[in-house]
Amino acid sequence: TQTLQSLAAAKGKYFGSATDNPELSDTAYTAILGGGEFGQTTPGNSMKWDATEPTRGSFSFTRGDAVVDFAAAHNMKVRGHTLVWHSQLPGWVSSLPTGDVQAAMENHITQVATHYRGKVFAWDVVNEPFNDDGTLRTSPFSTAMGVGYIADALRTARAADPDAKLYINDYNTDGLGAKSDAMYNLVKSLQAQGVPIDGVGFQGHLAIQYGFPSQMQQNLQRFADLGVDVAITELDVRMVLPRDATKDATQATYYSNVVKACVAVTRCVGVTIWDYTDKYSWVPNTFSGQGAALPWDENLAKKPTAYNAIVSAL
Ligand code: XIL
Repeated sequence: TQTLQSLAAAKGKYFGSATDNPELSDTAYTAILGGGEFGQTTPGNSMKWDATEPTRGSFSFTRGDAVVDFAAAHNMKVRGHTLVWHSQLPGWVSSLPTGDVQAAMENHITQVATHYRGKVFAWDVVNEPFNDDGTLRTSPFSTAMGVGYIADALRTARAADPDAKLYINDYNTDGLGAKSDAMYNLVKSLQAQGVPIDGVGFQGHLAIQYGFPSQMQQNLQRFADLGVDVAITELDVRMVLPRDATKDATQATYYSNVVKACVAVTRCVGVTIWDYTDKYSWVPNTFSGQGAALPWDENLAKKPTAYNAIVSAL
């Protein structure tokens, strides 16, 4: 049978959906997640620092393992997400004296990437390093180490898991602009220093009221031309609620445009939607009054507009 994954695979790519542990007990939900539409998953929360090392030196892999096990049982590859990020950091990291941050970061990366070695094909080693104007985001890591924390994190991840593709991942870098220029210059500078960098993730958290990113295909291609893989890692297309047919049609165009951009770029390895159903989308909890961002509705029914647009684009 034809699925999003089978269509993507025919183009040498994967089509995936993020998931999270609470919804893995929803059997109607897991029937679709593992039913063939998706060849890849990303844990939405359970490999983050607050989940894996809530207190210093004490690691917890139970929830991340549950996602890995589900994926293995349903022929899905796993993107590890994420090793170093300013958000969902336990308080103990933010409270460290700056002189302690590098050792804590390196140990975190080493322990988590070693645990998942052979189970994830890629890691978002560094997540969201930039502000929207392209300047380096302030975090415990940038405060302690400057921009060099990114190279150090990548080198540490490579040592722990030499087979995983190592990514930097960010949002509002999908199109051409100051923030994607900053990412582009970072990748070039890392390469010039001999730092291991295999891929760049473009989150793809889009909103129809803000317009489609400028020149997305060209943007992906310029990264590919540097010799790195690219991936759409967290795609969703939100709208101001309520849904209506006009907004659904615009949303479908956005989904189509993103998938077409990936298909057109040989080094775009795949597209991941940030869960597949509005029932478990992060959008309403984060963007007040917005939602309906995914191709399946809150009753786990496919939205013909968005779903068929993705099918046609693949
Ligand atoms: C989100 C999760 O989906 C939510 O459940 C959580 O409360 C906050 O984080 N960019 C990322 C993801 O890289 O990790 C975020 O995931 C969404 C934005």
